[in-house]
Amino acid sequence: MKKQLLMAMMVSMTMPLMAQHINVSTNNTSLILDAHQGGGLQFVYYGQHLNDRETEQLFSDGRQHLDAYPAYGMQTQHETALSVVHSDGNMTLDLAVEAIETRSETNATVKVVKMKDKYYPFYVNVCYRTYPDKDIIETWSEYSHKEKGTVKLTQFASAYLPIRYGQVWLSHLYGTWANEGRVETEPLQHGMLVIQNKDGVRNSHTSHAEVMISLDGKPQENHGRVIGAALCYSGNYKLRFDTDDSNYHHFFAGINEDNSAYNLKAGENFATPVLALAYSNEGMSGVSRCFHSWARSYKIAHGTQVRPILLNSWEGVYFDINEQGMDQMMADIASMGGELFVMDDGWFGTKYPRKNDFSSLGDWLVDPQKLPHGINGLLASAKKHGVKFGIWIEPEMANTVSILYEKHPEYIIKPTNREPRLGRGGTQVVLDLANPKVQDLVFTIVDTLMTNYPDISYIKWDANAPVMNHGSQYLTRDNQSHLYIEYHRGFEKVCNRIRAKYPDLIIQACASGGGRANYGVLPWFDEFWVSDNTDALQRVYMQWGTSYFFPAVTMASHISAAPNHQTFRTIPLKYRIDVAMSGRLGMEIQPKNMTDKEKQQCRKAISEYKEIRPIVQQGDIYRLLSPYDKLGCASMMYVQPDKQKAVYYWWKTETFVAQQLPRIPMAGLDPGKNYRVRELNRVDQAPLAFEGKSFSGAFLMENGLEMPLEHNMPWGEKNDYASRVLLLEAE
Ligand code: DGJ
Repeated sequence: MKKQLLMAMMVSMTMPLMAQHINVSTNNTSLILDAHQGGGLQFVYYGQHLNDRETEQLFSDGRQHLDAYPAYGMQTQHETALSVVHSDGNMTLDLAVEAIETRSETNATVKVVKMKDKYYPFYVNVCYRTYPDKDIIETWSEYSHKEKGTVKLTQFASAYLPIRYGQVWLSHLYGTWANEGRVETEPLQHGMLVIQNKDGVRNSHTSHAEVMISLDGKPQENHGRVIGAALCYSGNYKLRFDTDDSNYHHFFAGINEDNSAYNLKAGENFATPVLALAYSNEGMSGVSRCFHSWARSYKIAHGTQVRPILLNSWEGVYFDINEQGMDQMMADIASMGGELFVMDDGWFGTKYPRKNDFSSLGDWLVDPQKLPHGINGLLASAKKHGVKFGIWIEPEMANTVSILYEKHPEYIIKPTNREPRLGRGGTQVVLDLANPKVQDLVFTIVDTLMTNYPDISYIKWDANAPVMNHGSQYLTRDNQSHLYIEYHRGFEKVCNRIRAKYPDLIIQACASGGGRANYGVLPWFDEFWVSDNTDALQRVYMQWGTSYFFPAVTMASHISAAPNHQTFRTIPLKYRIDVAMSGRLGMEIQPKNMTDKEKQQCRKAISEYKEIRPIVQQGDIYRLLSPYDKLGCASMMYVQPDKQKAVYYWWKTETFVAQQLPRIPMAGLDPGKNYRVRELNRVDQAPLAFEGKSFSGAFLMENGLEMPLEHNMPWGEKNDYASRVLLLEAE
């Protein structure tokens, strides 16, 4: 009986087929493929959800069906997702569908289209994962073979998506250190557009592995059909858009294969990273909401929990760590209502104390000169002040001036026969995570800290160097091209071990600022440092772009000093608070240098942030007016999913006398509810016209509210900035 049941289940899971439509659906979207036994897998449709009748109509509306996963060899004139060199030197693939398998995971359903080359025992699985209630389709590919010898993979994209030619625009994020997440939009035109990363370690400086594809002309925030795509990978990637003479833009996304050809052994399985796709007809904000909701549930460590409000020591004291200073900062953040203190760089090094960035990475022992009572002393201070304690490490790196390097020069990435290229501080090198001994070392750094000091609640995990020179001292001569891939496999193995042992630890991904804003790391990390640039005005732009794919709960956003340490711009505290409060609020400042009035202003802001924290960190985003539109202001809001509460932000982005700014309709509210308006972080002498008044959601979404051009402040306190944060509560 048991055997019969098992047989029945097997049949329902793996379907041999003659010809079959494959329907990969979420509540609001459909991806339709066509598979033929012994023939190819074809892409038919991706977009708004279709019912059965409409799905049938796809097969008579004249549309072209394209290869869903084009492989190189038998149609060599086209761009491809996969290309290989078989063990006998043959460079072609001709894939045929063998079966379709459906399997259930704890929270998801996976459909696998199993293909095999018509001649070679080379197998390709094209996979799709969907979740209940999330409008995201994850897709990736897997390869294996039974050939004699290895098969060289020379191109191995996770996925391919054809996009019908028309008014198609691309929005993507570019940037660099201290200027991350900048939005760039352009129409897709003929030729090849490539967005890629080759850093080796940090993949979201220079550009991002996520793109928005607007199908109805110039990108809009709340209107039009948009596809969003995010490659969930921490390493080098390549996104290609080929616009040829066909009716399609051909979009490929995957690991960057440059200098990364992979020798696949018989019996080995190679799985590409996931490409997550979302479709919305509610503009780019609609796509963002799909990504945020999926990510909070499945792709971010503790994504459905709110984050503590913290003070980080970096901009306050830089490397000048000492016991008394740390105690004072803890007392200060506690007095302002903060919940966590994070001691940044500069606390470690015995033989080589970390006084600057010239030395000590790798030697994760407390500097006894700076901290005579060690970490236990700091934990005692934290307890005394009633805050939690966090610590900075950079475990993937070493300095050549360190005990670690003296003992294990073989642990670093460098080519044989050459001296290594040195990075930050003139001595920084990257450890070779392809090497299992290095994986153990990196795990042990975290494990030792956590075993010795179990009260540590938060780790800031930094990574401040690229792989500058190609060479693994661990990988064999034949497999040197595996370096980048094995580095990130090693990184994932370490992360898995850490999370298995320390599931509750909060971990921030920092990489020279925002170098690791990606869904390759977030399953193990709670948040990332958006940028080393804390200038509030520039943050409006950077956080805007970053929010395209990442929810506020991941975006560390700190109130810092004026003049700002990166731009030297002097921005009033009110504006600095109002920008930081649109992400995961924290402080990055020396509170000792703040006046009592400023501290009181922050105390009030922290208390008000606690009130709105669940809305900001767990709510639905509606970006209203982009700073990139250069209309003088920017505005966005977060709405609680039950639409009972919302937080509205408005920031002036430039100032002129007699300026004419647009009035901005709100979005995402319940038209039938009445919302009472309360201004937060108020500095004006008199309340705003609408303070305490209520308006229907319909009115607010049609008209918005009139924002005064400046703050009503006494002469002498007036300044050239203006911003507003409004809490809307349904009555
Ligand atoms: C780079 C990070 O982005 C900063 O926040 C800080 O932690 C420094 N590293 C410390 O060296």
